[in-house]
Amino acid sequence: MNQAIIYSASLALSLALFSGQDIAFAEAPPAAEACVVCHNDDGISDDPHVPTIAGASAYFLENQLAIFNAEARPCATDYFSGKEQVSAENHCAALAELSEDDFVTLAEYFSEQPFRPADQEVDAELASQGESIHAKSCDRCHSDAGGLALDDAGILAGQWKPYLIKQFELLKAGERWQPDKMAPEIRKLSDQDMKALANFYAREGKN
Ligand code: HEC
Ligand code: HEC
Repeated sequence: MNQAIIYSASLALSLALFSGQDIAFAEAPPAAEACVVCHNDDGISDDPHVPTIAGASAYFLENQLAIFNAEARPCATDYFSGKEQVSAENHCAALAELSEDDFVTLAEYFSEQPFRPADQEVDAELASQGESIHAKSCDRCHSDAGGLALDDAGILAGQWKPYLIKQFELLKAGERWQPDKMAPEIRKLSDQDMKALANFYAREGKN
């Protein structure tokens, strides 16, 4: 590689980092008004049943919006009926009101917000059981204890335990779309395994 190419590559990289930072401090786009009652402006959830969506990859987030829109994961109807400020009757309906462009903008915006782990208790014994289940069955797709956004598989490390346990149950029951190769690993999980994994991910969020 000659000097000019090295220079322009590093310039491009620093520009990319710079514009990434710009987005991180930008205000939420108008379409996010329909989201912030539950997910907050910064995508960090303070409700154990609402996932933190900050910092997951834009690709993963956009897919989830499309998946809700196609009703290929449960629409969280119970959750919506309890919220006076929200007019949509459930999560699928909330997204049906938006355009494809909104999905792209929202996914991009929330992916640029820095992730912060949930502040929650960890059962050390369960967490260490969870660590071996994760190593055997999950780590090949959810690296860094499920903390790597680049895997395009959500962020598990530091996610709320009650949210995670509900997802394990929905996935095991076949009620939420999942990759073909994940399904057999999820099917093997007992209730105890689910608690163990949730505590492992909660512990890893603190590291
Ligand atoms: C009334 C509260 C509420 C509102 C409003 C809401 N959400 Fe959610 N969102 C939830 C809940 C609860 C879940 C978890 C559903 C479940 O348990 O399966 C969720 C899940 C998600 C997920 C999946 C995250 C993951 O890790 O799988 C994404 C992405 C998301 N919401 C984005 C949005 C966006 C974008 C908006 C605005 C257009 C929005 N939400 C509006 C409550 C809400
Ligand atoms: C073959 C790869 C693969 C394996 C093995 C795998 N996963 Fe996944 N997982 C994925 C992908 C890809 C997604 C994103 C799916 C989507 O876009 O809806 C995902 C999504 C998830 C989600 C949803 C996260 C969220 O924020 O909504 C959970 C929870 C999860 N996986 C748990 C597990 C656990 C626990 C194991 C091990 C028992 C496991 N996965 C094994 C690939 C895998």
